[in-house]
Amino acid sequence: MKIGVLTGGGDCAGLNAVIRAVVKRAEDYGFQVIGVRYGWAGLVNADVVPLYYKDVRETLDVGGTILKTSRTNPLKDPAGVEKVLANMKKLGIDALIAIGGEDTLGVAHKLAAKGLKVVGVPKTMDNDLSSTDVTVGFDSAVNVAMEMIDRIRTTAASHDRVIVVEVMGRDTGWVAIEAGLAGGADVVLVPEHPFDLDVICQYVKKRATARGSVIVVVAEGATLKTSPGAVSKGSKVDEFGHVRLGGVGEFLADEIEKCTGLETRCVTLGHVVRGGPPSAFDRVLATRLGVAAVDLVKEGKFDMMVSLQGTRIVPVKLDEAVAKLKTVDEALFNAVRTFFE
Ligand code: F6P
Repeated sequence: MKIGVLTGGGDCAGLNAVIRAVVKRAEDYGFQVIGVRYGWAGLVNADVVPLYYKDVRETLDVGGTILKTSRTNPLKDPAGVEKVLANMKKLGIDALIAIGGEDTLGVAHKLAAKGLKVVGVPKTMDNDLSSTDVTVGFDSAVNVAMEMIDRIRTTAASHDRVIVVEVMGRDTGWVAIEAGLAGGADVVLVPEHPFDLDVICQYVKKRATARGSVIVVVAEGATLKTSPGAVSKGSKVDEFGHVRLGGVGEFLADEIEKCTGLETRCVTLGHVVRGGPPSAFDRVLATRLGVAAVDLVKEGKFDMMVSLQGTRIVPVKLDEAVAKLKTVDEALFNAVRTFFE
């Protein structure tokens, strides 16, 4: 049995830990692993490399992905599906493990309908995939963002400043809300709840009067109630139709300074939170999911994704995982809100 493995979409911490676990489990079963480079592009272009445990054993704590990644969508090319299926055959790959978020796994599900034997592993710092409690990369991102907020808080306090911290997360506010809560932020703004600028300014003023400094955490996809639509860097979209988000933090800092008269700065954390080594939680999760993915391949169960449900690793249907985005839970949002009043 030859198993292909690829990482698609934005990188995050823990991808190499998944790859390492896949290779280890596969070798234990006597299977061979072929690393597919640059996500789906590697199957379109037959860009692959054999993987052995001896080569990946030291990668548990290494951030990024040794296989590289891309946002290539083979479904955009009319011949893309044929190329992927033909290359699978040509390379002798019997089954594929796709490590990705909604875009990569959405493609995996569509290709499964064309005969691709595929198992998904959920990863994304955004944590927005359904059917799993959490995705690989999220915990690491939250921990890095929390550490940055801790650092920002002491300098903000020393100068009695308002500091707006912008974090990635695309259309959901999971990283913002968890890092904001863990980092003791005064305000957290998420895409799920468009905000009112006047209300935020009044609140910032109140907090500044009470304690001098104020930390506002804003998710890159957060929007104003009065003008829906996230702030983006131009209108160019990637192959999955996503614009490049970013800029809401700077916008907000300017507006807060104008309406409160308080010195307000912006720190955009950007890619910092998705780079670097995975947290202990992500190393364990990645390893468990990688092992479980190979087990599914061995059992011949395809068009499935391995997921975390409570403390258990459970197979779920890929179509359910990618059917809709998992947005920030209302109960979590309300729990957090009590700290901001
Ligand atoms: O999906 C993960 C993510 O980090 C998002 O939070 C962010 O909007 C996007 O990727 C950035 O992608 P890129 O690095 O390709 O600009």
